[in-house]
Amino acid sequence: MDHPTIEKRARDKRQPPQLQKYEALRKSFSWAQVEKELDWVPGGGLNIAHECIDRHCEGKRGDVTAMVWVGKNGEEERYTYEQMRVEINKCANALTSLGMRKGDRVFVFLDRLPETYFTILGTLKAGGVVGPLFSAFGPDPVRDRLQDSGATILVTTPELRKRIAAILPQCAELQHIVIVNKLGRSKEPLVQGDVPYDALVAKASAEFTATTTRDDYSIMHYTSGTTGKPKGAVHRHNSVLQQYVTGKWCLDLRPDDIYWCTADPGWVTGTSYGMIAPWSNGVTQLVYEGGFKATVWYELIAKYKVTVWYTAPTAIRMMMKIGVEAAKRRDTKSLRFIASVGEPLNPEGIFFGQEAFDLPFHDNWWQTETGGIMVANYAEAPIKPGSMGRPIPGVEVAIVDDKGKTVSPGTVGNLAVKPGWPSMFQTYWRNEAMYKSKFKDGWYITGDRAHMDADGYFWFVGRADDVINTAGHLVGPFEVESALVEHPAVAEAGVIGKPDPIAMEVVKAFVSLREGYEPTEELRRELLRFARGKLSAGVAPREIDFLPSLPKTRSGKIMRRLLKARELGLPEGDTSTLEED
Ligand code: PRX
Repeated sequence: MDHPTIEKRARDKRQPPQLQKYEALRKSFSWAQVEKELDWVPGGGLNIAHECIDRHCEGKRGDVTAMVWVGKNGEEERYTYEQMRVEINKCANALTSLGMRKGDRVFVFLDRLPETYFTILGTLKAGGVVGPLFSAFGPDPVRDRLQDSGATILVTTPELRKRIAAILPQCAELQHIVIVNKLGRSKEPLVQGDVPYDALVAKASAEFTATTTRDDYSIMHYTSGTTGKPKGAVHRHNSVLQQYVTGKWCLDLRPDDIYWCTADPGWVTGTSYGMIAPWSNGVTQLVYEGGFKATVWYELIAKYKVTVWYTAPTAIRMMMKIGVEAAKRRDTKSLRFIASVGEPLNPEGIFFGQEAFDLPFHDNWWQTETGGIMVANYAEAPIKPGSMGRPIPGVEVAIVDDKGKTVSPGTVGNLAVKPGWPSMFQTYWRNEAMYKSKFKDGWYITGDRAHMDADGYFWFVGRADDVINTAGHLVGPFEVESALVEHPAVAEAGVIGKPDPIAMEVVKAFVSLREGYEPTEELRRELLRFARGKLSAGVAPREIDFLPSLPKTRSGKIMRRLLKARELGLPEGDTSTLEED
């Protein structure tokens, strides 16, 4: 099939793109070239925090603003690279003073506050492994992650601590809880034994020399699969190579940019491209604590003169809903490059960008496991609306069949990557067997299905498994089912992704009830509330249907595929393994 391309307009071309001559670079490229662009630490080590912050201070850019923080109540704080360096070093020393050693896990359960960024980079500076958590999480996801990672330090706020108080005694390896009470917003008294962040860092030294190597573990993000609880994908300091260079190639970053990534650091986009890529490129970054509201977002772009903006299709669809006029009423002319990730970007989203901002959104593709962008639409290249673009130089991406053989252009198969890219995940924490299972016949199998066209552009088709993508966030059905069956009324639960015009999919659950319970509207509401309380609003089911029993295979596995087909009125496919009641 021939796919039309859209030409960029003059406005996109105000500056020559960072990546030029894509084809030529892809042929000649070697990662050794990027290694030379990094600073490294004395003795040949590599440290993400050093590459993000310290190197700019040494290079006399210490006075440049690294972070503009806008609080949810309109507060504003600014930090130069030098001030960030001091805050991060103090945090690194403070964590070390609590007994944190290289490789220890520090979990960060915070809203988007300056301290969130100091703590994540402070942990990395000191050689700890940092696990950022969404502040929307309920007690269950926090408990699962703290237990699985064996985290020894948790950094959180008074309110969030209260929300998860019941699960804390179940986290046996946890030794310290550090409390950030931003601007004294909370009147909650400090729980005995907890450590106040401000007092802890106040007495810490502002100097810290990193001693990590490129292979030391850095960040872990939990990601959902079809079976079992979410797994902790572990990255290493070496990832900064790819995050740095893709910041240039795929987001067109340059040091005088005002950059805004709308993702939360609880999601890999919020660390790889909400911290590491922008700061290693020396830009000024906007961090907004508040949530999505199109008009507020437009005002932020106008007020702070954002030049590069990285967001997600669900947000774009929500902007489309209120129409282009709302965007046109604000002055968003500062924007030079806009990009999107996390879900398929409908061509309409790209056209909306052109109408609303006079710029097309550039879609790109990657995953928690890849750690950095793998496939992208570049500033210099024509966009084919609906395509995720082409692989970055230095990685090999292909479509392979179930036997690991590459297929011809146009054929749908498994989206696969040749192992060895710099930001490749190193393991799933305490689950090496699951890690190994992702590699087959010399390929890392991503779990996505796609095809490649004759020009080398990749087109997303869907997930190969039952993982649900709701507003860009992956939800493992098992996690939701486990929460539901903890309710005394629920005998069994099966969870699917139901197509949704805005969020792509929403979580829908089917439950069968135990003896003595009636499928009433009241019980439905109670179950919805129950799941929200345990999980988070984004992960909990939006809809629950009662069924007398759930379709299962003869080995007793709930057939989610069948639940989905029935929900959508689609053919049921092969039901030969179905166990009928
Ligand atoms: O299914 C793909 C979808 O999101 C998954 C990765 O999600 P996560 O591990 O949370 O990583 C987030 C960092 C981007 C992928 O396996 N996905 C991501 N980008 C796209 C996409 N689906 C279609 N088009 C994309 N551009």
